[in-house]
Amino acid sequence: QSIAVIVVAAGSGTRAGGLPKQYRSIGRRPILARSLGAFMALPAIGRIVCVIDPAFEAEYRTAIDGLADDPRLTEPVAGGATRQASVLAGLEALAPFAPDLVLIHDAARPFVAPVAIARLIDRLAAVPAALLAHPVVDTLKHADADGRVIGTRARDGLWAAETPQGFRFAALLDAHRRAAAEGRTDFTDDAAVAEWAGLPVAVVAGEPGNLKITSLADLEAADRRLRMEEF
Ligand code: C5P
Repeated sequence: QSIAVIVVAAGSGTRAGGLPKQYRSIGRRPILARSLGAFMALPAIGRIVCVIDPAFEAEYRTAIDGLADDPRLTEPVAGGATRQASVLAGLEALAPFAPDLVLIHDAARPFVAPVAIARLIDRLAAVPAALLAHPVVDTLKHADADGRVIGTRARDGLWAAETPQGFRFAALLDAHRRAAAEGRTDFTDDAAVAEWAGLPVAVVAGEPGNLKITSLADLEAADRRLRMEEF
């Protein structure tokens, strides 16, 4: 079976300040290069495409320097105004190649473990859609805009979604095209698009530490930790 990967990296990432976070380095290597490296470690993956904002193409080229000789990494694709639109752009670019499976990953999760990606791929033998996730361990409080607690929510059965998320390619492309055609632009992950389209979706327990780098504080903490480890 053929497996393709879309790494979405077209966000402006302004919460981390300045240059979009996926192009910034933590430790010695750019966040994007780390995210790509996890997939490149798996020989089963045959094609990888990044979705970028063309305004940052030079930054993209710099970030992938050293990885560009992996022939599986193809030319980048221009993203859209939302994450959902960026994923659809990636799917349309892959459509001529019609892979069996597609994995969608946020560039902002550079710590994903290849072993977890392999587990996700294994699960896709039995289901058309699956995502890495971890069980919610915190007690969940529902609060109003003033921070007053309205109630405590049961956490059993709740999982926090991560990426990558994997799908039968044709099913996800169809779901995304339909969502766009029906004006649905509010999905924050691809599993939600698949759920909306009626596909069965499974959670797969990931490895600890698959953090999403969102704020400048996240980036600085990851950088400090890696500088110690890679010293
Ligand atoms: O903004 P957020 O952290 O939710 O973005 C998740 C991922 O989606 C990031 O890797 C970001 O680069 C990507 N993204 C995108 N196109 C957008 C918005 C976000 O590719 N328009």
